[in-house]
Amino acid sequence: MHIDMARSVPDDAVIQVVGATKAEPVPAGCDGAHLAAVGFEGRQDQTAVLAGVDNGPLTLVVGMGAVGDDGPDPDTLRRAAAVAVRASRRHEVVAVRLLESLGPDQRSGTPLAAAAQAVAEGVKLGAYRFSRYKSGEDTPSTERVVVVGAGGKKTAEAVQRGVHVGEAQCLARDLVNEPGGALTPEVFAQAAVEVAERENLKITVMDADDIAAAGLGGVMGVNRGSTHPARFLVLTYEPDNPRGTLALVGKGITFDSGGLSIKSGDGMMTMKMDMGGAAAVLGAFSAMPAVGVRARVHGYIPLTDNMIGGDATRPGDVLTIRNGTTVEVLNTDAEGRLVLADALSLACEESPDAIIDLATLTGAVDVALGPAIAGVMGNDQVWLDQVTDAAGRAGERMWPLPLPDDYRTWLDSDVADLRNISRVRSAGSITAALFLSAFVTDGTPWAHVDIASTAWSGESRGLEVTGGTGYGVRTLLELARTFRRPR
Ligand code: BES
Ligand code: ZN
Ligand code: ZN
Repeated sequence: MHIDMARSVPDDAVIQVVGATKAEPVPAGCDGAHLAAVGFEGRQDQTAVLAGVDNGPLTLVVGMGAVGDDGPDPDTLRRAAAVAVRASRRHEVVAVRLLESLGPDQRSGTPLAAAAQAVAEGVKLGAYRFSRYKSGEDTPSTERVVVVGAGGKKTAEAVQRGVHVGEAQCLARDLVNEPGGALTPEVFAQAAVEVAERENLKITVMDADDIAAAGLGGVMGVNRGSTHPARFLVLTYEPDNPRGTLALVGKGITFDSGGLSIKSGDGMMTMKMDMGGAAAVLGAFSAMPAVGVRARVHGYIPLTDNMIGGDATRPGDVLTIRNGTTVEVLNTDAEGRLVLADALSLACEESPDAIIDLATLTGAVDVALGPAIAGVMGNDQVWLDQVTDAAGRAGERMWPLPLPDDYRTWLDSDVADLRNISRVRSAGSITAALFLSAFVTDGTPWAHVDIASTAWSGESRGLEVTGGTGYGVRTLLELARTFRRPR
């Protein structure tokens, strides 16, 4: 699908998209009686199609809900674009006139650029489907989307930036949606090598021998029950005169059966998504040159599945993590923190200015915050503010949880330095983060985003289709693009 920008609706457009709000459900030139008759009220995600006038294109009216006097914000536009493009996916050429909904104050400068970028992201996300395993799919699909708007070169650039961000998020979705039996660590690593070659990034792929030689005991312990050898990826994006160094870490469990502390059949059903953090990190790297990131960025991606082979790690086994800490594994299903322990240790060795990890770490974060909001925790308020601000601008929801010192003793082990599950059942997301904090060097600003509830969507709504969401890609790109050393 090709996306570009034009000042007016092109002659070959089959359908044009215009926005409506609850206050003004009838856009200029539209048949209000028809809209009322079909029950269109301008509610968020509502759509209605109107016939063309004088051989003109069809009109798709998309509801944006309640909108302030300044017009819709970028999140509203992104979502409306996604809904509209999904509703018009059978039409070859689609003209999107959503920027016309902006208030007068927003029709130039940064607000217009941010709006244009959001619309392009929404177009990409709304058009997304995971169809590689569907046979006989030959329904016609949109070939070209034209974002209609005034604005000059800056706006057109913003549209292209949005295209790149949207594509990066779709790459993450593809990786999450790929079955665990197909996307083995080796196959994920190949995908990363392709991205690195295309985008001129440095990449090191550590194989099983390299992982053993580096003492990545967490990765080796989780991999022990598998027939697929682990991989560990280190990516680097290096701009000229970098403004600081940022480290991204992503949990890459290509399938989580739970290991010997095995999950239920239902609990395993979506566990191909347990590499959603790794996918978000790779997705972000794929668009770093395109969005003009000015910081040096390192990526650390541990990859293994968590299986139950004859020599799988047993409850009670002790692992030695890269930084020398020993861990008693009392529940093999708390495996993410074991591979992240190695990854965070390695990341800290390079003394980055800040670290962020993304991980589908705990079911408990869904209990705390539900399916649309990720939990964020860390050791440095300035850095946490920077992360949550970037997430806000990128339109990805996250909310802080505390890291109370006095809960740390719940991770004391009788035989090793730490146990991998808390003695106490409650506060599962917090105790998981406290475990991770033991592998972050004092003084290194670190944020942990638990995306267990947000990496996967159970329904098609708004920006999302059932399956991988690509959550985190937009935040990571916005964070990297605007990175400031927190201390
Ligand atoms: N990958 C899971 C967490 C998860 C659960 C992600 C549901 C997405 C949806 C993780 O490895 C896990 O199993 N965590 C355990 C930790 C527990 C054993 C302390 C959990 O959340 O139950
Ligand atoms: Zn698990
Ligand atoms: Zn897991």
